[in-house]
Amino acid sequence: MFNELVEKRRSVKVYANRPVEAAKIDAIIEAALRAPTGRAARPWEFVVVTDKALLEKLSMAKPVGAAFLKDAPAAVVVCADPSVSGLWVEDCSIVAVTMQYAAHALGLGSRWAQMKGNSFSEGKTSTQYIAELLGLPVNLTVQCIIAVGYPGEEMVPYKKEELRFDKVSYNRYGSKKA
Ligand SMILES: Cc1cc2nc3c(=O)[nH]c(=O)nc-3n(C[C@H](O)[C@H](O)[C@H](O)COP(=O)(O)O)c2cc1C
Repeated sequence: MFNELVEKRRSVKVYANRPVEAAKIDAIIEAALRAPTGRAARPWEFVVVTDKALLEKLSMAKPVGAAFLKDAPAAVVVCADPSVSGLWVEDCSIVAVTMQYAAHALGLGSRWAQMKGNSFSEGKTSTQYIAELLGLPVNLTVQCIIAVGYPGEEMVPYKKEELRFDKVSYNRYGSKKA
């Protein structure tokens, strides 16, 4: 079952004009809260956004690469308190992908919008912009925003022949499968 999900998963940029049921959002968040974290530190916090005006503003959090958030019916802002764990980047990445697979398992599409290391404008980071918008406390930084919604485009799964098996070695680097 999981393998089938993995085989079909693709990121979705275009969303149908249809709200996501609250129960599906709850299931995605529950999956996130069950994700593994280094030393079980759980340094993350999430803000679920379904307000249209806020989603539109989030789509402007960086100049390029977040516009798709505007037409998504929902998004989860993945924040973390770096003082809680030195592994917060790993923990946020794992939780973000966990939410993506949870969304896809529920028939939804999703896409990651990177925020860590990005700027809203000269002198203002994407995190600062989002913090003002959503009222985040100063200890939190934003790693990414995961858009969620019913797909408005059909994404073709990768064919097995397209996968980069050349990047895999066995026992010793460069040694290929017999
Ligand atoms: C760490 C990370 C950062 C990403 N940042 C963005 C982004 O800022 N904007 C965007 O449109 N897609 C972003 N994506 C989605 C990727 O572009 C997408 O996963 C990639 O093109 C491969 O497509 P696939 O997910 O359909 O296999 C990001 C994905 C990851 C894992």
